[in-house]
Amino acid sequence: MHTILITGGTSGIGEGLAKHYLAIGDQVIIVSRKKGNLKNAIYIQADLSLVSENYRLVKTIQESYGAIDGLILCAVVQTARKNVLITKEDLEFTFALQYLSRYILSNQIPFNENSFILNVATPGRKGNVDFDNLQYRRKFSSLKANIHANRLNDLLGVGFKRLGIRYILYSPMSVKTVGAKSAFANPLMSAFLKVWHKLFGHDVDETVNRIVVVLQKSSTESFSAYELSKPVDLSMKTFNLQNAKRLNQMIEELLLNSNNNSV
Ligand SMILES: NC(=O)c1ccc[n+]([C@@H]2O[C@H](COP(=O)([O-])OP(=O)(O)OC[C@H]3O[C@@H](n4cnc5c(N)ncnc54)[C@H](OP(=O)(O)O)[C@@H]3O)[C@@H](O)[C@H]2O)c1
Repeated sequence: MHTILITGGTSGIGEGLAKHYLAIGDQVIIVSRKKGNLKNAIYIQADLSLVSENYRLVKTIQESYGAIDGLILCAVVQTARKNVLITKEDLEFTFALQYLSRYILSNQIPFNENSFILNVATPGRKGNVDFDNLQYRRKFSSLKANIHANRLNDLLGVGFKRLGIRYILYSPMSVKTVGAKSAFANPLMSAFLKVWHKLFGHDVDETVNRIVVVLQKSSTESFSAYELSKPVDLSMKTFNLQNAKRLNQMIEELLLNSNNNSV
């Protein structure tokens, strides 16, 4: 029996993966703000947009479970928002939840040997990291902040190094989840998304099956990225190792300052 920790496992793709691992007899720990109702799942409630909550989760895992075999990162808020949202720890919400939480958990959660981290994001898309606007507070729109956070996750993946843990970035493309349906405030765009989902949207079950195959396929690679079932070209500029190192350094400084201000 393996222990799998899933952030955002109360809805959409995360919940679908939780059902899969429960069905094959694994121990599944689900983290989200609200509690879900999957039989036999262990629920930990935490607001992962807060650095302190991520550290609390790391401590809980250490003390109660020792180490885990798989970490699946799905926590996200896709609801359209016009203005920046600053957390009580003075960080931009999308940056904090969609990237910084994943950085902390990827680097701090205790793992057994031969473990994996599956970061469900959007690798394989072009775009730059704005190092002068890392949290995307300026020129803000939730959609752009979301895209930017995913470019940060590309660098998290390529810069990740922990012995015995493989890192997989995964893009599911368009999946018909409650969260995804809330991505546009504009009624026209919302109507367009409805049609788009009808024509091209993937079901959660189909996505879960695909991910399970990708996890098997990628089992000998320390770092890989997939879009649907296809490997993403890792020579893309979005996986620049120098940028990954630069980002890691900036994030370590940010976390150090956060700790000094005891967030
Ligand atoms: N759906 C798509 O079309 C699509 C496309 C590309 C990439 N993705 C990626 O796939 C992953 C899953 O997406 P999805 O559409 O399946 O998600 P979803 O249905 O919107 O579910 C989001 C999950 O995140 C949790 N969550 C939200 N805020 C949280 C917080 N502050 N702390 C802890 N948990 C929080 C939610 O539970 P609570 O509200 O209870 O906290 C919920 O369980 C995400 O990483 C997303 O970026 C999705």
